Amino acid sequence: MSSGWSWWVIGLIIFNLGLTFFLFLWAPRAKVPVLPDGTTGHVWAHGVLREGMHRLPRWWIVISFAMYLLAVGYFVLYPGFGDRKGTLDWSSAKELATDTAANATKLDALLKRLGAMSVEAVAADPEARKLGARLFSDNCAACHGAAGHGNPLLGAPDLTDNDWLYGGTGQDITTSIQGGRAGVMPPWNALGEPVVKNLAQYVLSLSGQPHDAAAAAAGEPLFKTTCIACHGAEGKGNPLLGAPDLTDKIWLYGGTPAAIETTIRDGRHGQMPAWSPRLSDPDIHVLAGYVYHLSHRGNAAAQ
Ligand code: HEC
Ligand code: HEC
Repeated sequence: MSSGWSWWVIGLIIFNLGLTFFLFLWAPRAKVPVLPDGTTGHVWAHGVLREGMHRLPRWWIVISFAMYLLAVGYFVLYPGFGDRKGTLDWSSAKELATDTAANATKLDALLKRLGAMSVEAVAADPEARKLGARLFSDNCAACHGAAGHGNPLLGAPDLTDNDWLYGGTGQDITTSIQGGRAGVMPPWNALGEPVVKNLAQYVLSLSGQPHDAAAAAAGEPLFKTTCIACHGAEGKGNPLLGAPDLTDKIWLYGGTPAAIETTIRDGRHGQMPAWSPRLSDPDIHVLAGYVYHLSHRGNAAAQ
């Protein structure tokens, strides 16, 4: 604050506190003319309302005076009286810096402790899971959902079902988060709509869902020559390519005939961003533990 403004503030404070103090001293002594009936003689509403005269109650004076002293005391101890710092030398910036430093020390110690543990052990640590939940809702929930159940519009997988595109060990999950993933399902529209429909029926048959048996049989040979390159001979997927298991009734993009046809006709390209440049390695370690926990909650070992 420039010294001009500082003096302006000091002047205002002295004026206001001084005026209040003067009123305190003066008001009890001030003589107000009072009529014999105890009123000032002021009348409103045709005599319905008249102005009485009562001294201020003692409790009111005592509390007000205490507030007055508190205000003076505050200006002595804390900043506020122009640019004076106050005898306690307190400032919100210093308090924030102290709190931040204390938090950083606590967090560093926690991250160091967790850094020495495996992802699987981090998953079982309650403190790590609390931190992981916060990191997850800040960075991952937009695509994977607040509870990690995924989003079929983005092809963001459910992270709670222990079914993995790229593998579910602590190391696999860490790699997914660090480097990101990009699954490429090529479009097959060139095969023509009837073939796409037949393939979709065959895909439905793989997970034992209601399907048109004749259409599925017509789609099978093409599946076995073309699609198995990525989805595997039995359609169980390939974690090296992120090609999903088509036999498990778990769908990235939805398992209705229409959704499956769209997938086959137009292809899909799910993109998991790489977090390595954005999040520190210790944060990614904690997140990997949290994701591992999400998918193993039913398993006592990782509780
Ligand atoms: C922009 C949307 C988006 C965000 C944000 C995002 N993800 Fe993903 N994630 C995806 C998609 C899409 C996939 C599937 C990629 C694919 O199909 O190849 C995926 C895949 C994954 C996988 C692999 C799952 C498997 O089955 O192998 C993990 C683990 C994962 N994400 C964790 C995270 C974590 C942890 C975060 C937060 C740091 C995060 N994701 C943030 C979209 C996102
Ligand atoms: C080049 C490898 C590759 C080939 C060939 C391939 N796919 Fe895929 N497919 C993928 C990948 C990778 C995904 C996951 C896409 C993503 O993560 O966004 C996928 C996803 C799918 C899905 C969506 C599954 C879900 O959970 O929603 C279906 C259905 C599918 N493929 C069927 C087929 C059929 C039918 C063929 C043969 C015509 C085929 N794929 C050929 C790699 C392939």
